[in-house]
Amino acid sequence: MKIISLESKVTVYDDRSELAEDVLHLIHEAENAAQRAYAPYSKFQVGAAILMNNGKVVTGNNQENAVYPCGICAERAAAFAASSQYPDVPFNKIAITAINPVSPLTQPISPCGICRQALFEYEEKFNQPIEVILTGQEGPIYVLQSIAALLPYTFHAGFLP
Ligand code: THU
Repeated sequence: MKIISLESKVTVYDDRSELAEDVLHLIHEAENAAQRAYAPYSKFQVGAAILMNNGKVVTGNNQENAVYPCGICAERAAAFAASSQYPDVPFNKIAITAINPVSPLTQPISPCGICRQALFEYEEKFNQPIEVILTGQEGPIYVLQSIAALLPYTFHAGFLP
């Protein structure tokens, strides 16, 4: 037997002043998207902003429903909007943030498993890593080089017949 051990690198920025202009802009777009979320049930507003290779930014936010499973996360709302508007354009970066109205988030939000899987599909489709920028309402900013870094042992199209 053997043990496989994985390493996941995260660049941690303690202050927004350390970030490049395009990253800061993308975070602002995600924050604005979070403000527009439809989250009457959880009250947890999530925003995502995707910078496409053509320079366009496509945003999404969580959309909830009285039938809870009908709702969708911000990341998938953004990814599906981006892919439907620009089907041939790779995703370059995604910024994700959230607003907790009760107790402001002091740590970066992290995308759920379904959203990781959904985003991974576009990384595979274009064979280009998507930089992932994670923030809370305050505190550090995490940057990862790819969705794959967030989703080891991924289910991928290669398994299918
Ligand atoms: N949510 C997202 O939009 N993205 C995530 O990464 C985690 C959770 C949404 C789903 C639901 O509307 C609310 O946040 C609470 O789970």
